[in-house]
Amino acid sequence: MGESLNFLNDFWLVQAMKYSLWLYPTVESLHICGIGMLFGSVVLMDLRLLGVCPNIDFKAISRLGISVSMFGFTLAVLTGSMMFITHAADLIGSRLFVIKMCLIFLLLSNAAVLHMRSGINAITKVQAIVSLAGWSTVIGLGRWLAYV
Ligand code: HEM
Repeated sequence: MGESLNFLNDFWLVQAMKYSLWLYPTVESLHICGIGMLFGSVVLMDLRLLGVCPNIDFKAISRLGISVSMFGFTLAVLTGSMMFITHAADLIGSRLFVIKMCLIFLLLSNAAVLHMRSGINAITKVQAIVSLAGWSTVIGLGRWLAYV
């Protein structure tokens, strides 16, 4: 299956990602900036849902947190896609990469359901724990990919 993606090698962006000295490291750094924005704001919102700092208004945290996390996620998707097309044939056959993508999809669904709920209750607390554990796992899988 991986070989069918070899045609991507002729794409100018893939050539630039492979042969430019600075492009790949810059894109990877921006991927990490995006992850930092996403994870940093998710941690603040999830901890608040779990009852940390109850005197801080959750709506106020989430108003800023949702915008920052969406910006960070968009940056991670754009830069992640640029890195993906550079190694598409290898990555598409990697179980770790497929698990990472499926987990991201599940965590986005979890975030969307959380956003639709009103009020904090036992279910939102469970969703906050799932979110914290899940995004941490995505970071671990991303880092791990470099070693397999
Ligand atoms: C559609 C979205 C995404 C795609 C296509 C994607 C793709 C990639 C690719 C191709 C790599 C390079 C792997 C390698 O070294 O061979 C990578 C690295 C990484 N990704 Fe993603 N990624 C996405 C979103 C995310 C998100 C949302 C997170 C975390 C919340 C994340 C965490 C990481 C981490 C921690 C690394 C390692 C960075 C490093 O070691 O420099 N990725 N990603």
